[in-house]
Amino acid sequence: MKSNKKILIWDLPIRYFHWFLVIGFSGAAIIALGFGDDHPNFAYHAIIGLILFLMVILRILYGFIGTTYARFKSFLFNPTELFGYLKSALMRNDKPYLGHNPGTAYAMFVMLALIIGIVLTGIQLGLGNENLEELHEIFVYTMLGIVGLHIIGIIFHIFRHRENIIASMIHGKKTSDSESGISSSRPVILIIFLALLSLFTFDLLSNYQEINKTINVPIVGVQLQIGESDSQEEFNNNRYEHEKDDD
Ligand code: HEM
Ligand code: HEM
Repeated sequence: MKSNKKILIWDLPIRYFHWFLVIGFSGAAIIALGFGDDHPNFAYHAIIGLILFLMVILRILYGFIGTTYARFKSFLFNPTELFGYLKSALMRNDKPYLGHNPGTAYAMFVMLALIIGIVLTGIQLGLGNENLEELHEIFVYTMLGIVGLHIIGIIFHIFRHRENIIASMIHGKKTSDSESGISSSRPVILIIFLALLSLFTFDLLSNYQEINKTINVPIVGVQLQIGESDSQEEFNNNRYEHEKDDD
């Protein structure tokens, strides 16, 4: 008979990190890809990206000090384990894991690395290094691909194991007979995480100059051009009008 016992697997910081990452990355991608670089709100995609960068740094730190299933050492699988897992999943005889399975573990490391790559190339673009634009976009599209695979994997898991892991990422619990649940959802760490994010967001927004679309990044103190300034936009529009008149 299937157990009905619920044990806590994902603490609060992990769950908030996950859903903030989903909202933040989707928001940045929608602004950049949907609105385009000549939209007046384009600069906000970079501001969101900088916030995601702080979140990823904090998640990496938490990978060393977090609760059992948040720690990297609980899901450091070697490539043989990953291929073994993928093969058994395709043959429908994979075993369920309490924390990340090798598939989600690898996807997670790749996604964190891609966010770092997107932000570092984005910063270079903001410093005027235009030839990194293609790499910035390649990272973004690769990330979209991995997110797609991640969601397919989650849906596959739900049907395969009849286990709603999306709900687990919301309430933190999984159904299992095991006694290996975590003992605390770490609310104090969540408060520190939210406080740091709020402070950084406030600092970013107060260092952002809407008129010329520049931002002074707090802590590192560099100034970035994260959108076309209003005067530049006006200049481009006028030039376009003149070129049209000449035709
Ligand atoms: C932009 C979209 C997304 C990104 C960047 C993303 C990223 C991640 C990352 C980094 C993790 C590892 C969490 C950690 O250990 O800190 C994770 C796990 C997870 N994600 Fe997502 N995710 C996305 C969308 C979604 C969506 C839409 C769903 C639900 C349909 C989802 C469900 C889950 C679940 C259930 C896990 C835990 C997997 C497990 O049990 O091993 N994710 N995701
Ligand atoms: C997850 C976060 C990010 C996503 C999804 C993203 C996405 C994109 C995309 C798709 C483009 C191409 C837009 C176009 O050509 O119409 C772009 C361009 C750009 N991004 Fe990002 N980006 C992110 C983070 C950042 C960050 C953190 C910065 C800077 C701090 C940044 C700065 C820029 C700049 C300056 C451009 C070039 C605009 C231009 O001159 O055409 N991005 N980004």
